Amino acid sequence: MKRLGILLSGRGSNFLAIAKAIREQRLLGARIAVVLSNREDAAGLDAARDLKIPAFCIPSAGHKRREHDAEVMARLHQHRVDLICLAGYMRVITEEFVRAFPNRILNIHPSLLPSFPGLDAQRQALEYGAKVAGCTVHFVDEAVDHGVIILQKAVPIKEDDTVETLSARLLQQEHAIYPEAIARVLSGDYVIEDRRYVRRDK
Ligand code: GRF
Repeated sequence: MKRLGILLSGRGSNFLAIAKAIREQRLLGARIAVVLSNREDAAGLDAARDLKIPAFCIPSAGHKRREHDAEVMARLHQHRVDLICLAGYMRVITEEFVRAFPNRILNIHPSLLPSFPGLDAQRQALEYGAKVAGCTVHFVDEAVDHGVIILQKAVPIKEDDTVETLSARLLQQEHAIYPEAIARVLSGDYVIEDRRYVRRDK
């Protein structure tokens, strides 16, 4: 059984989509070992507790990044996690953290990377006048929203879209591709060639 550690800061809908995929046996051989938030008021923490999943706040406010990450890493080790999923985790993690879990940290970002990294990706796409948006699941490396891409899904941008309507359309696809990407990574049926994630048939 592979043990997932989820890091979030807010709503937690991607976490819930992963939990649902496990419940519906679309993510075989995986369980969520722990949910961690850097904010106590994250709705995702309450949702995890409702599901009886171990869930803890490790507050980041007022703490140095390295010290906070060291606490987070210790907690992840304590729960013996195999794979870490950032799911709306609004913190940049340190190089030490990335190196401690090589190719074992995933992130979901609401744009077709490398377009529109960083905050407010949906707003960035709208303001730029892009006609297509999308979401990306990628490995986390030392640079923000930069690591090897595992899966992407495009969605159209409509002329009357607002940040809210576009975000909602994207979120539906995020909930589909994140569990799928986790399943692919856990299967181990891939190689990474330079920046390319390449599936291998067994
Ligand atoms: C999602 O749009 C995700 O792509 C981004 O942060 C948002 C988190 O939403 N990284 P939720 O907390 O999973 O509902």
